[in-house]
Amino acid sequence: MRTSGLVAAALCAASTSSAAAIYERQGNGSIPQPPASDLAYSPPDYPSPWMDPEANGWQQAYAQAQAFVSQLTLLEKVNLTTGVGWMSERCVGNTGSIPRLGLRGLCLQDGPLGLRLSDYNSAFPVGITAGATWSRHLWNDRGRLMGTEAKGKGIDVLLGPASGPIGRAPTGGRNWEGFSVDPYMAGIAMAETIKGIQDAGVIATAKHYIANEQEHFRQAGEAQGYGFDVDESLSSNLDDKTLHELYAWPFQDSVRAGVGAVMCSYNQINNSYGCQNSKLMNGILKDEFGFQGFIMSDWQAQHAGAATAAAGLDMSMPGDTVFNSGRSYWGANLTLGVVNGTVAPWRLDDMAMRIMAAFFKVGRVVGETEDINFSSWTRDSIGFIQPHASENPAQVNFQVDVRGNHAHHIRESAAKGTVILKNEGALPLNKPKFIAVIGEDAGSNPAGPNGCNDRGCAAGTYAMGWGSGTSQFPYLVTPDAALQRQALEDNSRYESVLQNNQWAAVQGVVSQPNVTAIVFANAASGEGYISVDGNAGDRKNLTLWNSGDELIKNVSSICSNTIVVIHSVGPVLLTDWYENPNITAIVWAGVPGQESGNSITDILYGKRSPGRSPFTWGRTRESYGADVLYEPNNGNGAPQSDFTEGVFIDYREFDRATAENPENTPLFEFGFGLSWSTFEYSNLNVEKRQVRPYNPTTGQTIAAPSFGNASTDLDDYLFPSNIRPIRNFIYPYLNVSSAEDASDDDSYGEEAADFLPPGALDGSAQPKNPAGGAPGGNRQLWDILYTITATITNTGSATTDEVPQLYLSHGGEGEPVRVLRGFERIERIAPGESKTFRAELTRRDLSNWDTVSQNWVITDAPKTIWVGSSSRNLPLTATLE
Ligand code: NOJ
Repeated sequence: MRTSGLVAAALCAASTSSAAAIYERQGNGSIPQPPASDLAYSPPDYPSPWMDPEANGWQQAYAQAQAFVSQLTLLEKVNLTTGVGWMSERCVGNTGSIPRLGLRGLCLQDGPLGLRLSDYNSAFPVGITAGATWSRHLWNDRGRLMGTEAKGKGIDVLLGPASGPIGRAPTGGRNWEGFSVDPYMAGIAMAETIKGIQDAGVIATAKHYIANEQEHFRQAGEAQGYGFDVDESLSSNLDDKTLHELYAWPFQDSVRAGVGAVMCSYNQINNSYGCQNSKLMNGILKDEFGFQGFIMSDWQAQHAGAATAAAGLDMSMPGDTVFNSGRSYWGANLTLGVVNGTVAPWRLDDMAMRIMAAFFKVGRVVGETEDINFSSWTRDSIGFIQPHASENPAQVNFQVDVRGNHAHHIRESAAKGTVILKNEGALPLNKPKFIAVIGEDAGSNPAGPNGCNDRGCAAGTYAMGWGSGTSQFPYLVTPDAALQRQALEDNSRYESVLQNNQWAAVQGVVSQPNVTAIVFANAASGEGYISVDGNAGDRKNLTLWNSGDELIKNVSSICSNTIVVIHSVGPVLLTDWYENPNITAIVWAGVPGQESGNSITDILYGKRSPGRSPFTWGRTRESYGADVLYEPNNGNGAPQSDFTEGVFIDYREFDRATAENPENTPLFEFGFGLSWSTFEYSNLNVEKRQVRPYNPTTGQTIAAPSFGNASTDLDDYLFPSNIRPIRNFIYPYLNVSSAEDASDDDSYGEEAADFLPPGALDGSAQPKNPAGGAPGGNRQLWDILYTITATITNTGSATTDEVPQLYLSHGGEGEPVRVLRGFERIERIAPGESKTFRAELTRRDLSNWDTVSQNWVITDAPKTIWVGSSSRNLPLTATLE
């Protein structure tokens, strides 16, 4: 039986502190949140599920992995599971190697928008801009092209895509890495991206699992660096229903899409660390969702040894407890744990199986993968293979150009992900007489596009957030450059003023007759290890940066044709000026990547169809409800972020609040975006499909399989005398054959039974999860219950794309007014032409998570659907039987 028990203890309890840079703590616009009283609790869930040889889509990979893993020694298996340490090899994460069988160490590299710390790679639009295209095929293409670039550099595992954070708080620092605040949409974008990456032969990583919704306090050490006296990382406290219906939903889709890897997050969930939370890893991801790949830790998110193994972690990244400590929770400790019985041998086998099955699933072949031909740590050709230890000088950068013709996709995707929020006839531009481009956000960063490490600044045009989810720009086309080129082609007059504080110059230009002023402004955010202007990852407010609001107000006070373009990571407050009649257009250009200027030119001149907003534009910061927790609220214990809003984030919150008070109506709703044409929606048709009633999965798993035998003599695991140890490199070998000394742990010798939660070592057959049974969960969750169609007719005069959206009300108490359950970007509908929008509602789409039966249930409450062009413009409606 799966059992409950004590919260697992650590095998090797080294203290953790972040190696991230220290920054001064700055004032912020925090919204006080009450301290939690009773601390939330995460129930235990053991044993850790092992792979299912029959799992859909994994059978062949399983057989190949079994053949490979069966040949491995214990030390070789450990080597697969444990990184060699921060900067100990060329990639941001590197596993140990198995030279005897020709497997080089696996190369893991960021990230969600392409390759980090590399060269001759592309800088794709960030997730939120890709999301705003609402285009499945562009998501798939983007994934495939990123995967192709990764493969060409010798990368085995790409550390993306992300749907955590999903965007609970509009100020969340890393929201832009994901696609949408809506889980249904994020899930589809994740799945398409994963399929694209993996079709290119590279393992994708769905991250960060889970409820990793803010940067503040994500790691205690990092928070201490900002001057906060906290000893533990933030706990995101959320209930089972919210978990299933919101935060875990896109991960379930990722599993169904066959994702090879999942990264567990820094934060705690209900006061249990993401990378040792047995409920979330064993219980939800592996048991219920049927995940067959491997779970890796985020970098330094592992806080224990045997406990993390028992809770379902499969790979320790980057392998050392703290960057460059030379110590590991796994490595030698995992070897010792398996020999002394605190880690079940089948658990180690399962880790190795999961890693190798993911490897084979994406078509990789041992001994035939590309060489790693770049180094994350230098752009010089010659460097060290082990940079931290300065060992083995060699050519490490081969300047392999992997960009192909990807620029074409990037330009198209960023344009199609640009959202027109307001247009009083100003757009599209048509050979304007005189264009004045105003604002720092239209020009270059004087330090160059890659002038700030990991893009940790907002200087020049904003085309990428900051942190690990970045890449080096191969070039950056600025709006100034691209718009000027267009102006020259059209014989327009063109001037630009690219400093926000040059008011006299700006005034001189925008006060002239015939001017079309295009004002650029931005708002940035990123990962918590970098603080920019007091924004420690999370934004401290929702206003524009570098006095952008003043610039817009000033220009529009004297220029009656002011077009505003915003590059931002998410919503900003437009409330003060959006209604000004001199502001003739407002365009959200997202965070577009290397082709920024070309993409915005394509939209402003009407050469491409725009996108739709993947989040809501509220009137005030408060109107979003949930916000980042900026101050510790639990003494020096883990700050407690209570997700008391449940599933009511973004449009669900606005819909709920507007029903109470119309003043909460947002400026521009989720799914909104203007078009080059007008469309009529008609002929809503609901077809009910005949399906079998839902059957919870029953039966038993196989017993935990074991592959190969291992010696229990510690002498067999001593550091080989013929290997010269590399400084701080993480090895699987023991230094001494005394178990106690090798463990480096004062509490060594406690009985495993006292130490591990009940069930952790149990390898007997287990009952299958009623909501599970296959990758993505119970197969019948994906039965199609209804097919909905509607006719979309272009009633205007331009050929353009339309994005019909389908929303559902689950009905009943406490449910959102409506949730997204279908959408399609229908391309190039000609004037007068009609096309059919089609959406399929699955059982999961219609269900709610039932916390009592622990399964998806379609309630008796009446279900209504709507179809329209945004979450608030829904001309067609029907009730489902
Ligand atoms: C920490 C980040 O949270 C994660 O997204 C990234 O993949 C790793 N660092 C590696 O850079």
